[in-house]
Amino acid sequence: MRTRLLSLAALLLSCLPVLSQPAQSRPLPNGGEFSAGDSMLRVTALRDDVLRVRMWRRGHAPEDASWAVLPEARTAQVNVTPTTGGFETATLEVTVDDKLRLAVTDRAGHLLQQDIEPVQWQGDRFRIYKRKWPNEHFFGLGDKPGPLDRAGQAFTMWNTDNFGWQESTDPIYKSIPFFISFTSGTALGVLFDNTWRSFFDFGREMPDAYSFGAPNGPIDYYLIYGPDPKKVIETYAWLTGPTPLPPLWSLGFQQSRYTYEPESRLTEVADRLRADHIPADALYLDIDFQQKNRPFTVDQIKFPNFSSMVSELARKQFHLVVITDLHIAKVPNEGYAPYDSGTAGDHFVKNPDGSTYVGPVWPGPSVFPEFTQKATREWWGGLYKEFASQKVAGFWNDMNEPAVFTYPTKTMPDDVQHRIDEPGFQKRTATHLEIHNIYGLENSRATYEGLLKLQPNQRPFVLTRASYAGGQRYAATWTGDNSSTWNHLRQTVPQLLNLGLSGFSLSGADVGGFAGSPSPDLLTRWLQLAAFQPIDRDHAAKGTRDHEPWVDGPQHETIRRRYIEERYRLLPYLYTAAEETSHDGMPIMRPLFLEFPHATTDGHPMDLDAGGGEYMFGANLLIAPSPSPEEVAPYELHLPSGIWYDYWTGEKLDRRTKTAARDLEIRDAAAATKPIMITPKLEELPVYVREGSILPLAPLTQSTEEKPQGPLTLRVYPGEHCNGSIYQDDGTSFAYRNGHSLRMSFTCEQQSNGQVRVHIGAHEGDYRPWWHEIRVEVNDGTTPAKTRTIEDAGRGMDVALQ
Ligand code: GLC
Repeated sequence: MRTRLLSLAALLLSCLPVLSQPAQSRPLPNGGEFSAGDSMLRVTALRDDVLRVRMWRRGHAPEDASWAVLPEARTAQVNVTPTTGGFETATLEVTVDDKLRLAVTDRAGHLLQQDIEPVQWQGDRFRIYKRKWPNEHFFGLGDKPGPLDRAGQAFTMWNTDNFGWQESTDPIYKSIPFFISFTSGTALGVLFDNTWRSFFDFGREMPDAYSFGAPNGPIDYYLIYGPDPKKVIETYAWLTGPTPLPPLWSLGFQQSRYTYEPESRLTEVADRLRADHIPADALYLDIDFQQKNRPFTVDQIKFPNFSSMVSELARKQFHLVVITDLHIAKVPNEGYAPYDSGTAGDHFVKNPDGSTYVGPVWPGPSVFPEFTQKATREWWGGLYKEFASQKVAGFWNDMNEPAVFTYPTKTMPDDVQHRIDEPGFQKRTATHLEIHNIYGLENSRATYEGLLKLQPNQRPFVLTRASYAGGQRYAATWTGDNSSTWNHLRQTVPQLLNLGLSGFSLSGADVGGFAGSPSPDLLTRWLQLAAFQPIDRDHAAKGTRDHEPWVDGPQHETIRRRYIEERYRLLPYLYTAAEETSHDGMPIMRPLFLEFPHATTDGHPMDLDAGGGEYMFGANLLIAPSPSPEEVAPYELHLPSGIWYDYWTGEKLDRRTKTAARDLEIRDAAAATKPIMITPKLEELPVYVREGSILPLAPLTQSTEEKPQGPLTLRVYPGEHCNGSIYQDDGTSFAYRNGHSLRMSFTCEQQSNGQVRVHIGAHEGDYRPWWHEIRVEVNDGTTPAKTRTIEDAGRGMDVALQ
């Protein structure tokens, strides 16, 4: 029984007096306004499947502005048809009762969401309670640790520098107030666009209710109808913007440490990566490369040849990423340009008495840019001029919750005043309580936009720690200061999945763990798994043991190298997935329910069977790490029904023949998804390919700057809906926007004579790829794979393999 899919009529009978009578209402062309007492509820349709809900009291509509939602989406509208209790769009029906309780159904009458009580107010504080179905699951909310499913738990949004966070720590660095409710294969998204310290409860307070609220700020939320979860993701990207296409090199292996110093140590790491043939693209410099921890400086003693060092690294095909924290050292009269120019331009955050707010961070007493002013963001962006001219490739915005030492709250006092001076916003001041959660977002925006201005034809790479909904438009992210423990390795999966569902497709966790020293096995397992995660950055805290792939001797290094190499072979697949994200927001790393929303007979997300450890990397690869990676022990592999292939061996796992039933997918999904026991050894990470996949692979290179030598490989796994694609471009510029890219689509068909016919589409776009030939490799479970290499003249062709 699909509990969610109660008809509205049945619901009306079961919970009267909800929806008993309409409120006082005024139809709008795109929705309706409903009033009761001094409260006003305005529900509008941005599209037939997207509603915006706003509520206020005493006639004061809150400012209609947003840091998260794109203006073009926020102001979109469709015409609706008024009904007795509300209105309807082509997709949704909205009803509001006399107590301003809102109910939304689809046009077939299936209840999607319902207020179970009127909005609860206490002064300016409010909370909205929605009906929760017993089989309702919740995903999203950004980087919050803990299990993949948020059901049964409560969370706070307040960006916090939480060094040493653990599985139950909340909040940590980011506030992404967006979640997806998933019930019986049906998804609904909710974005609660309130920047104050907000609260979410998914059935912890009351098993049959979920709720969200804040101590202040607007009631302003968006309902995004699926019913397919992918549709919700796409619409969320329409609302808040997708992750832009990243530079290709940022998908390579990245090596970092707090801090590689002096210069000779960084060079040594670079040389060792090349000497040991460990493919790598990026190296990082953490705070000690600066003079006295002052952002935008270089310690000339430790890094005497910074500029030539950057060029030398580039010659060795490494991209340098440097940290540029947002706190500016308060050092008047010392010739520290960021402080001097920031003071001259009045760019720093102020105390209520008008003096500049000063707080201690890495450089000692520091001042903080007013990122909520366009002019300040432009000033900040200009600070990158010198690094950009030296060809530093990427920038790392850390500590931007903002972190402030000494205070118990680890941030600025609540009453610090921020000036908002911004197109689309009223010019006004706001307390830190309102701005805190968007401070990191606006910091990364200032960096991203500043870099674009300095280098208009280069895709910026910004890595941020703190952010808010929509922050994916400006920066990739990581999960902050995790620990070198097995638990934290496991934790990377639910955390990165929820980040992906919350818009942040380009996410990673410090490989090997930041705090503490990983055992050799832990580091090996971590390097394996991260090779199949969107951002693959090895990073470590000060005082911990070395983390580089070679540190535990040749046996470990061989395993670690093999996985990083596989990531490089798969780069065409990974880059194609990143390009997809840049259109529709589809995360690179996906929970199973996103690809297989109907995988279970009772509609629960299949991820829960797999203990949250399995996930999809792109649309076709299923990664199945052990739930107890600290031991080599058998565990259950849960595969969605259908045929799967072992990525490493090509072996076919036919879930239908294994369970000896025909058409099992339709008749007995439970049997078709019966788990298989597997016991991978330390050197093995199970990866499976879904039938009907065509994976594009490249010859191995040591960096993305190296031109692959040899053909493009298309690894074909015949089966239903057999297809694939590849996207290529120069990897760094915006030339693709003018058609200088290459896209090819592929399909395959199994013929009755046993032949597999592969159709290779013509080149679309004028980018000239590295290959001249395509090697088609058909893996249909027979060994060895059938292969054929053919010239690629770009016109498209059919290849038959017997
Ligand atoms: C913070 C960051 C960490 C960095 C350190 C020094 O703890 O999260 O990644 O290494 O600061 O900059």
